[in-house]
Amino acid sequence: MVKKPIYSFILLFLSVSAAAPQQPPADAAAVSHFQQYLRINTAHPHPDYQSAVSFLKALATSIPNLRTRTLHLTTPNKPLLLVTFPGSNPSLQSILFNSHLDSVPAEPSKWFHPPFSAFKTHDGSIFARGAQDDKCIAIQYLEAIRNIIATDPGFKPMRTIHICYVPDEEIGGLDGMAKFVESNEFREMNVGFFLDEGQASTNDKYRVFYADRSPWNLVIKAEGQPGHGSRMFDNSALENLMKSVEVVSKFRENQFDLVKAGVLANSEVISANPVYLKAGIVSGDGNFVMNMQPSEAEAGYDVRLPPTVDPDLLKKRIAEEWAPATRNMSYHIVEKGPLRDYMGRPLMTVTNDSNPWWTVFKHAVEAVGGRLSKPEILASTTDARYMRVRGIPTLGFSPMKNTPILLHDHNEFLKESVFLEGIKVYESIIKALSSFDTDSP
Ligand SMILES: *[C@@H]1O[C@H](CO)[C@@H](O)[C@H](O)[C@H]1NC(C)=O
Ligand SMILES: *[C@@H]1O[C@H](CO)[C@@H](O)[C@H](O)[C@H]1NC(C)=O
Ligand SMILES: [Zn+2]
Repeated sequence: MVKKPIYSFILLFLSVSAAAPQQPPADAAAVSHFQQYLRINTAHPHPDYQSAVSFLKALATSIPNLRTRTLHLTTPNKPLLLVTFPGSNPSLQSILFNSHLDSVPAEPSKWFHPPFSAFKTHDGSIFARGAQDDKCIAIQYLEAIRNIIATDPGFKPMRTIHICYVPDEEIGGLDGMAKFVESNEFREMNVGFFLDEGQASTNDKYRVFYADRSPWNLVIKAEGQPGHGSRMFDNSALENLMKSVEVVSKFRENQFDLVKAGVLANSEVISANPVYLKAGIVSGDGNFVMNMQPSEAEAGYDVRLPPTVDPDLLKKRIAEEWAPATRNMSYHIVEKGPLRDYMGRPLMTVTNDSNPWWTVFKHAVEAVGGRLSKPEILASTTDARYMRVRGIPTLGFSPMKNTPILLHDHNEFLKESVFLEGIKVYESIIKALSSFDTDSP
């Protein structure tokens, strides 16, 4: 009797020390798949899409019931992989999960570990370009389905589940998602809800995005009378342009003040950042002519609009205040993305209970102990806009919490524990969304 507690203490100690370094084989395999995928260099300007698609296709085919199709919507070197888990009720709208195949380049000399090595440190941090953006979700979707089937071999989703792996997101998606949504294959999929990439969160809540900001390239031009460098006169091109630059700067400051005061998030204001100034007359030796006031000058701005603002109001402001014709100014806007959907509604997905997809999604995250922070507008742009423009409810979500935000940064990494937790979150999401049986209004 006296010995028993000691005995059980030793047993407990042994079992803990033996279990600690070991990972369930399914988890170890999932992490290994993630690392293998990260080692395929799909960074621009020469992304190896063929190897990425072959790898993902093999991984998908290793899971029972999944079908794959490779589409070539433009050139043979830009494949798009479609993975499908057929549902039992094909009359219901399907669910589409998205991950882009490409990533931005990396400068190896600025990294602790080579960016395509997927090196794992002692604390389980996996370093690689794409670890957060967005190769994690690419593998998590598949491993989640694998786990669902492993736990319940008879599992059949009611709605069909698709995963698409698209090229070229990082360079605008024109040969990727933009072409895909125009295809017959896409039309036949009858997508009801789209889940795309999100971003890491530095706290213990997951972030979720309901809109992107839309970029405009704005060029403001000023004309004026040319003259000798020594002359004083009104309304030279540069004087006219400088007046505009001041007005735009004031507007930018007011928007930024709202952010600094905590009234609005960075992504909820209009940003107007100067990106170039062009003026002056270049002489034969490549220097500027100093004794001549030029007749033309221009400034370029990167402008980003959240879907909550009225683009026509901003255009009016540009025409009246930033580049008034009365001051011999003109402007040119290149809209790099849509602001309204095909019905003329602002490009954003409703995140309250009036959108049943939102409710199901949120409850599924919470069912596995996850918490969502206040839905946000993404400061930049993703392929999600191609879905929202078709009126398809779309959320941006990558389950990475307590993680520094390192997309497009040096030393991008993801902890394996975070990666594995994300698989559990997708298991819950996939089960919930695929068994949700009423079509959205
Ligand atoms: C506009 O340009 C014309 C022609 O160069 C010039 O005469 C006029 O003063 C300019 N007006 C302003 C407001 O810049
Ligand atoms: C849900 O959000 C939309 C868009 O923000 C809003 O128009 C609507 O009134 C909200 N509905 C409910 C039930 O809160
Ligand atoms: Zn991305």
